Amino acid sequence: MYPFKVKEKLTAYQYLLKDKLAGDKNRELIALLKDLKLAGRQVSKELNTGALAGSLGDYTGSKNSHGEKVKKLDLIANNLFIKSLENGGNCAGVVSEENDKILLFNNENSKNAKYLVLIDPLDGSSNIDVNVPVGTIFSILKRPRGVKKLSTKDFLQEGKKQVAAGYIIYGSSTIYVLTVGKGVDAFTLDPFVNEFYVSQTNIKIPNKARMYSVNQGNFFEFPLPLQEYIRWCEQNDQKTGRPYSLRYVGSMVADLHRSLLKGGLFIYSQSKNAPKGKLRLMYECNPMAFIIEQAGGLATNGKKNILSIKPKSIHQISPIFIGSKEMVELVTKYLRSKLLN
Ligand code: AHG
Repeated sequence: MYPFKVKEKLTAYQYLLKDKLAGDKNRELIALLKDLKLAGRQVSKELNTGALAGSLGDYTGSKNSHGEKVKKLDLIANNLFIKSLENGGNCAGVVSEENDKILLFNNENSKNAKYLVLIDPLDGSSNIDVNVPVGTIFSILKRPRGVKKLSTKDFLQEGKKQVAAGYIIYGSSTIYVLTVGKGVDAFTLDPFVNEFYVSQTNIKIPNKARMYSVNQGNFFEFPLPLQEYIRWCEQNDQKTGRPYSLRYVGSMVADLHRSLLKGGLFIYSQSKNAPKGKLRLMYECNPMAFIIEQAGGLATNGKKNILSIKPKSIHQISPIFIGSKEMVELVTKYLRSKLLN
């Protein structure tokens, strides 16, 4: 039995046009979402044929803006998204994990476009070679009013200013999960006709759950209050259903997709080795926080709401505690009570 309630077989485009983004003023945003979807379809194909097309493995000698090794598919995905956004003409500029600086488009349509895109073209790419789900994460901001010549500071907007955010998970199927600030919907790629169809509407994350997701190998590097919280999750207590189950894929998109559908808490904390965490605020934490909040969940950095952090740089990193509301509230309470004192 198909587990999701499918209303009618609508394409993502038809659904947005008819429901979430009805009305003429949304045409440009719908077109931009379509540009992202087009590139996502191509990336999905590249990933499916990775080994055969020779696109697996490292891209020799190259590192990204965080000094991490770049996979061939990181670059392929980056090029596909950027090309699609540039050709579409609905986006004025892009921040990508794979580019140190902002990219501004100069063609006639893009120059005046209303939107900015921040993107991690292929998150979890260290998992590609072993056939584990990876994903694309994106955030869409409005170009600040009256700004003709864009610069980096125009991208440095708080997460709560996002007009849309989404991810595409390339797993056992390819699923495009999207919020435009009116709940969360999912569209599944039908590979036979190469089209995304509505597969789940108005997704709600369970308020509490029994699953947590963390790189347990870093346990002794974590701040003590977090160690205490994790010990609490591991303890036996019938009333709260503990011990909780630990699930960690190592691809944020996969871990959060599971948490969105089944409930759970995803943690990427600061640690002795990574004093500010690892994940990127503007194109990983912010879009995921927007999606999870729109589904009824919560996201903090251990002190404050992710969406209210004022970014200082485009590649800024942040700790993140995200998922089912009650779980995030509790872990944040542990952290706040001790970290802030
Ligand atoms: P990468 O894209 O370099 O594979 O990084 C993936 C990110 C994120 O998706 C995941 O949750 C996290 O890094 C895993 O990091 P650890 O290996 O440190 O747990």
